[in-house]
Amino acid sequence: MAEPTGGPHFVGTKEELMQAKRSFRTLEGRDILIVYHQGVFYALDSYCYHKGGLLQNGDIEEINDKLCLICPRHKYKISLDNGEGLVKATDVKAQPPVVKWFSRGVKQRVHTITETDGNVYVKLSEDPGWIQSDYYQGEDGKKERAKDEAEEESTS
Ligand code: FES
Repeated sequence: MAEPTGGPHFVGTKEELMQAKRSFRTLEGRDILIVYHQGVFYALDSYCYHKGGLLQNGDIEEINDKLCLICPRHKYKISLDNGEGLVKATDVKAQPPVVKWFSRGVKQRVHTITETDGNVYVKLSEDPGWIQSDYYQGEDGKKERAKDEAEEESTS
């Protein structure tokens, strides 16, 4: 088997990815979501860092000047640009306390997406640190996702 290289991997033509708006690809065993929004492509791990929710159908909103994908499962906000998790909470240090957005830090792994001559490529992130969304790309995370999906189906 070939050594993983991280890419860049061809993921489709600009035209088809623009039309699809959301595209799912598996690159070197990693499940990636490609998003086209307002003229820009983004690539990130396709399962939410919180509980592995499928991000593919999440809405996009601007929060604190950042475009965020909203996980359909529990509405966690994920910055498309860098995978930062954003949360609204009360700043008790302010007088009077105010409700504002805080960063949880980078939680979702994002990948580099580029376009050349109408073809789009993804280079997998080489950030060596652990990023929370990594869990749902591994075997344990896969089992947990399957269990959650089965539970959701039995209650719906
Ligand atoms: Fe995404 Fe919980 S699984 S917010």
